[in-house]
Amino acid sequence: MIIILALSTIAIGVLLLFVNREVLPPKDLTAERCEQENAPYLNSELSVEERVEDLLARMTEWEKIGQMVLIEKNSIRTLSDIQRYNIGALLSGGGAGPKINNEPLSWLQMISTFQAEAQKTCLKIPLLYGIDAVHGHANVLGATVFPHLTGLSATNDADLVRRVAEATAEEMAATGIYWNFAPNLDVVKDIRWGKAFETFGSDTARVSRLGVAYIHGLQDSSTGYYKVLANPKHYIGGGSMEYGTSRNEDFQIEEGNITLTDAEMRRIHLVPFANAIDEGARVIMVSTASWNGIINAANPYLLTDVLKGELGFTGFVVSDWYGVYQVAPTRYESLVTTINAGIDMVMTPFEYKDFMSNMQQAVANGDISNERLDDAVRRILRVKFETGLFDRPEATPEGLSVIGSAEHHTIALEAVRKSQVLLKNTKATLPLPVSVKKLVVSGASANNLGRQAGGWTSEWQGIDGDTSITGTTILEGIKETVSADTIVEYNQNGDFAASGELADIGIVVVGEKPYAEGWGDNPNPSLSPEDLSAIEKTKAVSKKLVVVIVSGRPLDISAYSEDWDAIVASWLPGAEGGGVADVLFGLHPFIGTLPFSWEI
Ligand code: GLC
Repeated sequence: MIIILALSTIAIGVLLLFVNREVLPPKDLTAERCEQENAPYLNSELSVEERVEDLLARMTEWEKIGQMVLIEKNSIRTLSDIQRYNIGALLSGGGAGPKINNEPLSWLQMISTFQAEAQKTCLKIPLLYGIDAVHGHANVLGATVFPHLTGLSATNDADLVRRVAEATAEEMAATGIYWNFAPNLDVVKDIRWGKAFETFGSDTARVSRLGVAYIHGLQDSSTGYYKVLANPKHYIGGGSMEYGTSRNEDFQIEEGNITLTDAEMRRIHLVPFANAIDEGARVIMVSTASWNGIINAANPYLLTDVLKGELGFTGFVVSDWYGVYQVAPTRYESLVTTINAGIDMVMTPFEYKDFMSNMQQAVANGDISNERLDDAVRRILRVKFETGLFDRPEATPEGLSVIGSAEHHTIALEAVRKSQVLLKNTKATLPLPVSVKKLVVSGASANNLGRQAGGWTSEWQGIDGDTSITGTTILEGIKETVSADTIVEYNQNGDFAASGELADIGIVVVGEKPYAEGWGDNPNPSLSPEDLSAIEKTKAVSKKLVVVIVSGRPLDISAYSEDWDAIVASWLPGAEGGGVADVLFGLHPFIGTLPFSWEI
């Protein structure tokens, strides 16, 4: 009996050993390999290529594989795993911040903690840390929240776009984050897509020109301290995904399919990426879209033949979110297929142990060649050296003062003013006189910074009614602009006390609640019943009616706009609601133009 018990215990133990087979790094048997203070790759006097080749030659296969994985920082089970698995890159998924709070110092301390772990590895290769700072470093408390790209597109002002990106880079770099998953270069052909507000619109030439400006703003800092890596996305064609084709049952367009000819794909969607690469883009993020049924991350024609071959792209290609693992029935097959297709870094984004073991197996099996492995790692190291990761000065708490600076808010204000588009103006309604006698203001977006800011603010999906943003609502802007004698009455729903005399002007600020990505896929972007009710009630007590629309895209207002005297598209202006008031009252002219066509 005892023998049986003993044998079964041994059997269970052996079984557990296999079931929980821990992925163990190979024992590093050459300690002196890690004593490399005078190694060429650490010598900033040498060329990038010399440093890349020296470092690559020192790396074990385990270390190389670790450079190819991009993990969502909340998925790191224990800090020491960064060293154990030689993880080369982390990201704030959905902009997720430090667990303690979203203060700038907490962000800086979080990043520094991660980097310190990377410095415990043998070769001390710094981490790349990426975030979606798509309209400013908007997940950080006190950061400047700029208009989203749709609004920047409406300005059609490349220099302004560059300055917005430059200010964004400064605020990011101050927290030690040097990789922005921006600009979005999707050319949007269907505004029902939840990502429409993240783009420069539907015109290839405008997307291309403003995208290049944004890249220069992020990357061209005169000091290494503020240099941030741009990451044009999503390669390629997402703006032409067809409604109802999503692989995700929660979405309609996001993760959908594109049916374009090669010529159409090149004419509409390739131009912005080709120009971005010519102008210095060094990381390209691949869309989770499919083109004629093939997921982009698994398409060697797109990733290797066109991007790396024809366009001569020598940076690295990173997959988007869980995209790689949607390619094949097993993660092993997915990794083999996509890395051989041309993916260099995999945003898994959650699992690294499984990634490491599958990659080790794939290289051992010859399913991923050592040449492909070295090519991917060479590209990643090249960009890390180019971005100055090995040489740049540490971000310090003293540098945090740039976050939310007056200078950056001034740039944001200029962007809001220049992004306002006049859709309709009858009876010479606009500009409004600052000395107007009585104003009534209503609408769910009049006094709501969260709606002004939209998605990717404070949280991934944004927050309706977000009070954490440093800024001015449109209502506050109106109150600050009108004369001291002007009577301003505000009621969100338009419930104004009936009085004999009509207000001279009724301003109703309406639009969309915050959303992001597939959660914003919408069969008919339009105004809510509450907004329409507020408009009706306000119209009833006003001599003239101005409707201001705060949205990431055109909304269907054609059934109602006839009764409105003036209509303004404000897009998602972000923190500086005063910029909307400045244009409503003629302190600044309407110069914005439509990034999408909009039939009112
Ligand atoms: C998301 C988005 C992409 C973003 C990435 C990292 O799914 O598609 O735009 O940069 O994940 O947050």
